[in-house]
Amino acid sequence: MLDRILRVDHAGEYGANRIYAGQMAVLGRTRIGPLIQEMWDQEKKHLAKFNEILAESRVRPTALLPLWNIAGFALGASTALLGKECAMACTVAVEESISEHYNSQIRALMEKDPERYTELLHVIKEFRDDEMEHHDTGLEHEAETVPGYWLIKNAIQLGCKVAIYASERV
Ligand SMILES: [Fe+2]
Ligand SMILES: [Fe+2]
Repeated sequence: MLDRILRVDHAGEYGANRIYAGQMAVLGRTRIGPLIQEMWDQEKKHLAKFNEILAESRVRPTALLPLWNIAGFALGASTALLGKECAMACTVAVEESISEHYNSQIRALMEKDPERYTELLHVIKEFRDDEMEHHDTGLEHEAETVPGYWLIKNAIQLGCKVAIYASERV
C-alpha cells in the first residue's frame, strides 16, 4: 500500500510541475505570470520532497513519467492558450482532484497505523493544504467565468482519475 501511495503522489507532483511549466511557457510574461510562478515554486518543493521520500524508501517512480512529462505540459500550455481564465479552470480541476486524493490517503493511513505513518501524514496534510490554496487561487482568478467551465473541469478531472489509477499500478 505504501509503495502505491508514494509512487502516485510523486507522479502527481511531477505532473503538477509540468502543468505549471506549460502555463508559464504561455503566460509567464503576462500579469498573471508571478502568481503562476508562486504556485509552481510550491510544486517544486512538493516534488523535491517526494523525490527524497522515494529514494529513502527505495520505491521506484512510475514508469509513466515520460507520458506525464508531455501530457502535463500540453495540458498546462493548451489551457493557457485559451486564456488565463482557462488556465485557472485547469488549476481548479487538477488541484481539487489532488486534494481529494490526498484526503483519501490521509484517511487510509489513519485507519492503517497513524503512529507508524506520522511523518508521512504530516507531509501529505501540509501539501493538501497547499493544493487547496492553489484551488482557491484559481477560483479567485475567475476560473468559473470561462465558457464551458463544467465541461472543461470534468474532462480534466476524468484525466486525473485515469492518471492516478495508472500511476498507482504501473
Ligand atoms: Fe503539489
Ligand atoms: Fe498544487
